[in-house]
Amino acid sequence: MTRSHRPRHHFALALTVALALLLSACSGQYPNSTFTDLTDFNRDARGLWNLMIWLGIGVFVFVEGLLVYVMFRYRRRPNDPEPEHVHGNTKLELAWTILPAFVLVIIAVPTVKSIWRFNTGAPANALEVDVIGHQWWWEFRYPEQNIVTANELYIPTGRPVNFTLRSADVIHSYWIPQLGGKRDVVSNRTNHLWFTPDSVGTQAFNGSCNEYCGASHANMRFRAYTVSPEEFDRWVAGQQANAASPTAVPATPGGAPATNGAATATPVAAQATPAAAPGYVFPREQLPAHVIPKTPIPAGLTFDDNLLAAGDAQRGMTAFISCIGCHKVRGNPQAVGVIGPELTHIASRHTIGAGLYPNDAAHLARWIKNARRMKPMHGGPVSMPTLGMGEVDPILKTTVTRSTGGLTDQQIADIVAYLMSLK
Ligand code: CUA
Repeated sequence: MTRSHRPRHHFALALTVALALLLSACSGQYPNSTFTDLTDFNRDARGLWNLMIWLGIGVFVFVEGLLVYVMFRYRRRPNDPEPEHVHGNTKLELAWTILPAFVLVIIAVPTVKSIWRFNTGAPANALEVDVIGHQWWWEFRYPEQNIVTANELYIPTGRPVNFTLRSADVIHSYWIPQLGGKRDVVSNRTNHLWFTPDSVGTQAFNGSCNEYCGASHANMRFRAYTVSPEEFDRWVAGQQANAASPTAVPATPGGAPATNGAATATPVAAQATPAAAPGYVFPREQLPAHVIPKTPIPAGLTFDDNLLAAGDAQRGMTAFISCIGCHKVRGNPQAVGVIGPELTHIASRHTIGAGLYPNDAAHLARWIKNARRMKPMHGGPVSMPTLGMGEVDPILKTTVTRSTGGLTDQQIADIVAYLMSLK
């Protein structure tokens, strides 16, 4: 008696577990999900998805229902005669050709409309942003505002953004899942992508590369900040200003630069260009956990916190001569390199290494010391070299010395203090 009940009991249990799992998939937070209502682009994509999933469910239930019904209704019974052999049924065949075609039309019309909408050019009032994919970081240029930045994108809410996508090397793919994309970034053609972050307030999002592009493909991330038009204007004003020449602001390891250091600035500061008020920056304390990098620092890559705290921004500006071939700092007439990310306002960014590490003195110092240990790179001239004296370059397998352009920890601490002053 109990034996015959067991399979039914197991089936009920399995069904309960399956239903519980299915329902649990509907709850919870998915900060990198593309199923949002935050932009026109994602609303369209979500609408298409919902249409297809419900039509699919309808077709599944209809077909499987019919199947199960026929299986039970016409199942073989004892002493049943041989069933009639049937060849062809014009009505049925017409039905199962026309019906799916009809379903496809229901899917095709809105799909083609969406494709047309988002591939025939952005609205005229769109904010223009040029996106350039590099191995392995993102460059953002705002041609109308004359701003160049890296790995952190600011866009105002309520206004379409038109991204012009190019690559400096191989094929990448641009995607901010919660806002829109993804679209390939190809070296020999220009692609476009536009969306309007119209249903989103001040928020921070993850962006990423989605086309395998080499060793650090997975480390080619960025942050997108949607801010109010007023905050965006303030950010633009801050970014447009040249970098202020440093006053002796000591950096604090593992955190933001000390703000009270300016009071002890030496008189040399007087000859500095009058610093504009720092522009808007997305508040660090409002960053959601999923956009804060948690990449561990490689074992053994150490830096003396006391040395770092005593870094001198003015000395750092001089030592920055090691970096000027690759990095531009507007306002520093020597620093005109364009190979690496522009660093004019690097202290206003929350991340370094294309979203891989938090931007603070501790990480920045280690990055300068041995970036190639912190992030897989290639050994070519367009990748950040290992600069700390005595460090082993993990690609070239050579030890960095003074004659190869190595920097002492003191110089690195000074450069960090300089960079941290570039708000
Ligand atoms: Cu760039 Cu993957």
